[in-house]
Amino acid sequence: MKPGAMIIGTGSALPSRVLTNRDLEEMVDTSDEWIVQRTGIKERRIVGPGESNSKLAVEAAKKALEEARVSPEELDLIIVGTLTPDYLMPSVAVLVQKELGAVRAGAFDLSATCSGFLYGLSVADQYVRVAPERKILVIGSEVLSTKVNWEDRTTCVLFGDGAGAVVVTGSRDDRGVLSTHLHADGSLWHLLTLKGCGSLYPPCGKELPREEYFIRMQGREVFKNAVRAMETVALEALESNGVQPEDLALVIPHQANRRIIEALRERLGLPPEKVFVNLHKYGNTSAASIPIALDEAVREKRLSPGDLVLMVAFGGGFTWASALIRW
Ligand code: ACO
Repeated sequence: MKPGAMIIGTGSALPSRVLTNRDLEEMVDTSDEWIVQRTGIKERRIVGPGESNSKLAVEAAKKALEEARVSPEELDLIIVGTLTPDYLMPSVAVLVQKELGAVRAGAFDLSATCSGFLYGLSVADQYVRVAPERKILVIGSEVLSTKVNWEDRTTCVLFGDGAGAVVVTGSRDDRGVLSTHLHADGSLWHLLTLKGCGSLYPPCGKELPREEYFIRMQGREVFKNAVRAMETVALEALESNGVQPEDLALVIPHQANRRIIEALRERLGLPPEKVFVNLHKYGNTSAASIPIALDEAVREKRLSPGDLVLMVAFGGGFTWASALIRW
């Protein structure tokens, strides 16, 4: 397929506070050994005073804009994938728009949990296929630490905070987004939830048991679905572009669990160096995980022009998605 959106700048931002597995041993009945063995996570970043979702998003966006040599006034659209906005209203995207001074840009948040960045990239891709001169900022930004039950060892060890951003415009050659595939299965919504403080249970902490005001997950079921969905959507992306796994220069998967990433790597028959992993440093940052990983891959010079890059995500809902890019 003809490429649509071309990524011309990437950026990321992480809170300065590091929460290690040893720190968590002091908080809940867990161990560094259990967490590393079951998830691969060693530490994660957590927001402190003065830090917020929108501030991380702005920091990541500024870096991406600088690398892209695009000024905020040139932006046509800002899309933020997030499930942990500063407020229910206004969106993180309009706070970013204000802070950057992106006076011409429309701005909205997009709710697709851990697939939020790839869903946002897919929307941007459709926009620039219609009008290639448009410039769009796509961000994934989360402060999951505010939605984690720090008394629940089955979830609190998994998540972290951070933001990643890309600037895209229409492809001018054979480089750019070749395809995106988006999927969802709402029939399994109950396996991964954050019920409290929506419009159904608005008075926070009153209507529902306390634990429902935090992320709840049936981990083993989510794990099985994540492995299956990420494999399927990866193969769908390759098949629809006539690409073989060995043609890929790099896979950038959602960073939820090292074992899920390993299962995907084995299914694709790829060596470890072709699959980007940074979850040992940041844990699962939901919609932010892929753009943070992409930015690190770029800064580590893991990508060269013309490389084929496959991104795959899976998250609550369930939602799952892929993007195949010629870099
Ligand atoms: N420390 C020590 N023991 C623990 C901990 C912990 N932090 N958490 C759970 N355990 C215990 C359990 O209580 C259980 O004990 P039991 O056997 O005595 O009952 C045992 O460890 C095994 O628990 P499981 O849940 O079966 O462990 P599993 O191997 O499945 O690993 C995990 C759990 C890491 C959560 C895994 O299931 C997983 O990664 N799931 C997928 C998460 C994911 O991909 N999320 C993506 C979407 S996230 C989003 O959308 C926001």
